[in-house]
Amino acid sequence: MSTWRYPRLIAHRCGGALAPENTLAGLRIAARLGVKAVEFDVMLSGDGVPFVIHDETLERTSNGSGRVADTPAADLGALDVGAWHHAAFAGERLPTLAAALALCDSLGLAVNLEIKPSAGHEAVTGSTVAALAAACTPHAGLILSSFSPAALAAAAELAPELPRALLVEEIPTDWPRRLASLGCSALHAWAQKLNRDLASAVIAAGVPLACYTVNQPAEAEALFALGVSAVFSDRPDLLLT
Ligand code: G3P
Ligand code: MG
Repeated sequence: MSTWRYPRLIAHRCGGALAPENTLAGLRIAARLGVKAVEFDVMLSGDGVPFVIHDETLERTSNGSGRVADTPAADLGALDVGAWHHAAFAGERLPTLAAALALCDSLGLAVNLEIKPSAGHEAVTGSTVAALAAACTPHAGLILSSFSPAALAAAAELAPELPRALLVEEIPTDWPRRLASLGCSALHAWAQKLNRDLASAVIAAGVPLACYTVNQPAEAEALFALGVSAVFSDRPDLLLT
């Protein structure tokens, strides 16, 4: 059972910009800074193993190439995902979801697990990720989120006890219907496109609203003043208070 509560700051893609994104090194840096919660993205390998990675392709954040969905787990696990960020992180491996959840548990980090399915793999990603998240929930808590309604619906069916947030760029006017249809208890929205009237309505309804990606302390303070529960940040070092 997850005991998720929103902290004000959630480190984006594990450790934000302080480490290569979506890595175990990022989780360790977040914990050393005193961050209480992290967000990371999860996608399935070609043979159905959940890995922590943002892009559908490997080129930007690893020394590999091709599509994650076409690459077996054994090959993904051998990729270097640190050297592109800085030579100090060379040798960092692409983490499995299982490894990331185990490390978050030992570091005392709560997790916002973003289900990030490759196109065409929405439902299977939602159910596979939810099953593992339910079995390996870190003791500090976990909430699932996704831009994909199909992934959220599959996750809800597999692990209804895990809290879920709907991820959007802009808050849709029919947000109450969308949250209700997916059994989502929270909304995660893009700070840059935040409509203040809709945000205020979400908050007034008692629905937690978290905003990505906020790297300036003044912007974070303005969002908190509006009633936003949490911000995702690449600069947890600047936003920790
Ligand atoms: O979960 C919030 C944020 O991570 C969504 O955008 O593209 O960074 O996964 P993205
Ligand atoms: Mg994300």
